[in-house]
Amino acid sequence: MQPITVKLLRWYDSHHRILPWRISPRDRLAGIVPNPYRIWLSEIMLQQTTVEAVKPYFRTFVEKWPTVTALAAASQDDVLRAWAGLGYYSRARNLKKCADIVCADFGGHFPADTERLKSLPGIGDYTAAAIASIAFDLPSAVVDGNVERVITRIYALTTPLPLAKPTIRTRMQALTPNERPGDFAQAMMDLGATICTPKRPACVICPLNDNCTALQTADPELFPVKAAK
Ligand code: ADE
Repeated sequence: MQPITVKLLRWYDSHHRILPWRISPRDRLAGIVPNPYRIWLSEIMLQQTTVEAVKPYFRTFVEKWPTVTALAAASQDDVLRAWAGLGYYSRARNLKKCADIVCADFGGHFPADTERLKSLPGIGDYTAAAIASIAFDLPSAVVDGNVERVITRIYALTTPLPLAKPTIRTRMQALTPNERPGDFAQAMMDLGATICTPKRPACVICPLNDNCTALQTADPELFPVKAAK
């Protein structure tokens, strides 16, 4: 495991956010496994919506439909009504389609690999990697906007987005451990959301400040570099 990975996991153990769909590192260590249905549902909701806005909807959905089988048995109209206010309603239509397919073709179990996950409606590269790592603890590189910011800062990548994306993915894959890949992915998201923020990052309390090339040589706020419009 790379030193950066070790440090970030150690930070996550004591500083992870408590989220309704998340299981704690302590629970994971005790052998409790996440529920793939809840991870999938949360990731679809989080695609274009903030954590705070998602929380009440997530709770309502799992109370109404505790399993993917229950969601498949619901009507499209009921699902759309429960989604009202979250926006991007194609997500709700795909949610129901995906639940139907998981029940009809996968016996009510989400497939545990990125390729088959990507064959499902509403699941693209990011969501497939997030489900594979968080729900099934597989070492897929999870790259969202938070991760792009953290990686471009650690390595001071000056190539502008979106050109830098392949390099960011390669760097993220190299940091992703075979042990605790799900916690690692969530730790990167939490670091990006709480410390390595777009403006005024809290570098003095960052667990990776000794490893951050942008902090050592430039100004972290200058990363990620974006292509001129
Ligand atoms: N944003 C997208 N997925 C997330 C997750 N699993 N935890 C926190 N923030 C997220």
